[in-house]
Amino acid sequence: MLVLKTQVMVNLQTTLFIWLLIKGVFCGQWAAWMPQTISALQETCVAIPCRFDYPEELRPSSVHGIWYFNSPYPKNHPPVVLKSKTSTTHETYQGRTKFLGELQQKNCSLQIERITTDIQGKYYFRADLGGYNQYTFSEHSILEIMDKPSVLSPPEILIDSEIELTCLVPDNCPNMKPSLSWLGVEGLRQHSIFGRLEEDDGTWTVLSLLRFLPSQKDNGHRVGCKVSYPDTVLEYHRFLTLDVKHAPKIVEVNSSLETTEGAHVVLICVVESNPISQVTWLKYETILKQEASGNLTLELDNVSNSHDGIYTCVAENEYGKVNKSLGLAVMYAPWKPTMNSSALVVEGDYLTIFCSTQGNPEPIMSIMKDQMVLKRVVYESEILLEIPVVNDEDDGEYWCTAENQYGYSNSSFSLTVEFAPVVLPDSKCTAGRDSVQCICIVKSNPESTIVFELPNRNLTINETDRGFVYSERNGYTISSVLSLRGEMESEILILCSATNIYGTKMKELPFHSPSSQLWAKFGPVGAVFVFVILIAVGGYMIKTRKKDTMNESSSFIQPENPPVAYRSDYTTQKNLEKSENEFHSISEKMLLNQRERLSDLDVSYANIDFSKLCMKDSYTSTEELAEYAEIRVK
Ligand SMILES: *[C@@H]1O[C@H](CO)[C@@H](O)[C@H](O)[C@H]1NC(C)=O
Ligand SMILES: *[C@@H]1O[C@H](CO)[C@@H](O)[C@H](O)[C@H]1NC(C)=O
Ligand SMILES: *[C@@H]1O[C@H](CO)[C@@H](O)[C@H](O)[C@H]1NC(C)=O
Ligand SMILES: *[C@@H]1O[C@H](CO)[C@@H](O)[C@H](O)[C@H]1NC(C)=O
Ligand SMILES: *[C@@H]1O[C@H](CO)[C@@H](O)[C@H](O)[C@H]1NC(C)=O
Ligand SMILES: *[C@@H]1O[C@H](CO)[C@@H](O)[C@H](O)[C@H]1NC(C)=O
Ligand SMILES: *[C@@H]1O[C@H](CO)[C@@H](O)[C@H](O)[C@H]1NC(C)=O
Repeated sequence: MLVLKTQVMVNLQTTLFIWLLIKGVFCGQWAAWMPQTISALQETCVAIPCRFDYPEELRPSSVHGIWYFNSPYPKNHPPVVLKSKTSTTHETYQGRTKFLGELQQKNCSLQIERITTDIQGKYYFRADLGGYNQYTFSEHSILEIMDKPSVLSPPEILIDSEIELTCLVPDNCPNMKPSLSWLGVEGLRQHSIFGRLEEDDGTWTVLSLLRFLPSQKDNGHRVGCKVSYPDTVLEYHRFLTLDVKHAPKIVEVNSSLETTEGAHVVLICVVESNPISQVTWLKYETILKQEASGNLTLELDNVSNSHDGIYTCVAENEYGKVNKSLGLAVMYAPWKPTMNSSALVVEGDYLTIFCSTQGNPEPIMSIMKDQMVLKRVVYESEILLEIPVVNDEDDGEYWCTAENQYGYSNSSFSLTVEFAPVVLPDSKCTAGRDSVQCICIVKSNPESTIVFELPNRNLTINETDRGFVYSERNGYTISSVLSLRGEMESEILILCSATNIYGTKMKELPFHSPSSQLWAKFGPVGAVFVFVILIAVGGYMIKTRKKDTMNESSSFIQPENPPVAYRSDYTTQKNLEKSENEFHSISEKMLLNQRERLSDLDVSYANIDFSKLCMKDSYTSTEELAEYAEIRVK
């Protein structure tokens, strides 16, 4: 291997100067000068420059010389490379060697042609000045045989920083001049080639310098140096594979994307770098996957909303670090909304109903009651309904709904409003020929106690008077019916009073003529109950008569279509039927109660005759139904 000890280009004059210097130093001594090492490509030739000297006083008549191979001592019989006295050379060297200069002029330069690897080694020169004046110089040349040129490359080739490759070939044969060229340089960026000749220790080297700006695509590319000799077929090549170091580059990564719950998502990150990079998939700061690889795939199975977020692929090697991020949006139907738990408020209170959910995209949310939308927000996940002053109408079931293109969900909330009684406008009295029937319809929460008052008669009748009052409950509405029988002056004042913890409401019940076609028009609905009570003011005679076969149904007429305002408070036909059944047992109890009570009052006679209370069809008029029991007090 040829080693350049100096990069300085030395011209011929300098060489001569050194020669003269050496000559001066060794003048008049046994001494020789030749390069310590000299190289040549095989099949070419080499000329080993050589000079020697001997003591001046010898004044030889003839000067001869011998070149030995590998040993300075003739008694070892080393192969004779070249001998000036005779032509007895070793067979290996026959016809391949010659002296280049004149031995007389102390020029011992040796030329060897058609070099083969077997002649690599040490070459010694022996001067023969006749007689005993023979001397083998210890100075010798080592011949090195190369099979191809050398190419020097910097220890590291970095992308985008100019480098220089050097091709070197020994040039030590005067009649064989090497010619250097580069192969595979066409695609190299900004490449240029310079030639140079260098001398070191008397040996010559031809250099060809290739400069270029390495790019990423040059990594792994082969460039070669070719040596040829004009007028010969000799050709030598040395190739070098470029190892272009560069920071990672993310060449492929998914762009931001939308997916739906349950999907299988595969994200890829393709990295080019030299050396190989550590590639990492991160979600925010969390490492999901890491590998030293050129291609890192991240698989997300059964995607859920928790996978929603920013994913980053980071690639790093000792030359740099890069990253690329993408957003993964997981679309999903809104979750079941979270709502207030059911609440109880008092009329007049301030109330807020809050509902929240989660969905992607943000849903449209509504708060509804009775199919009516009370509030709606679009693309929000929270909704707040404010009721500054609660009233009885606000009682009920509220629904919170949330919807986006991926689905729908809802939750409900039940609000109970407590409020003072309200006597509904339908409350009234109907006077028959000799009976009066009053209905007092009260809405309240909690339930009110209803009392009928007849101030003119100094009478207060409440529900405990089972015989006179029948009440039916339906939600927050109580319909209490008072039935009176007897001769009454037309202008009897009947008040209905309703009381619960929030207050008392009293209303004079207006009289309504039964001759109006209203009843017939609307017809009775469901079970109708009648209690007929005769109240005789003054002396009382009560006569009771138990009726065993009480399987009849009584009727109470009420309009089919009550005013819309509280329509919903009326039960359906079905419920009324149920009430009817209940009534059978109730009426039996009532009879007992009535009897007990009346006996308490020291009643001497009571007669309640239900015998005529047979089943009536729904179209029977009130008057026809107005059967009665007599209560007589002596
Ligand atoms: C020896 O002689 C040759 C031929 O004349 C010449 O080219 C060469 O430079 C000489 N070498 C030295 C070392 O003087
Ligand atoms: C990510 O990109 C790769 C390659 O282009 C593709 O095969 C894959 O389906 C993409 N992933 C998603 C979730 O789109
Ligand atoms: C997907 O995830 C959901 C909830 O995270 C789970 O209920 C479901 O069973 C999963 N499906 C599969 C196929 O793993
Ligand atoms: C990605 O690169 C940017 C700058 O290029 C840097 O600010 C950021 O911190 C990097 N992110 C990660 C996760 O490395
Ligand atoms: C409903 O919840 C919200 C928030 O939690 C609260 O401010 C509000 O008072 C609650 N309303 C009721 C009626 O409980
Ligand atoms: C009602 O009772 C009061 C006293 O309790 C009495 O003064 C009044 O005369 C009575 N009225 C009738 C109509 O009986
Ligand atoms: C109902 O009337 C009875 C007797 O008439 C009475 O004892 C009771 O206190 C009254 N109840 C109400 C709530 O007024």
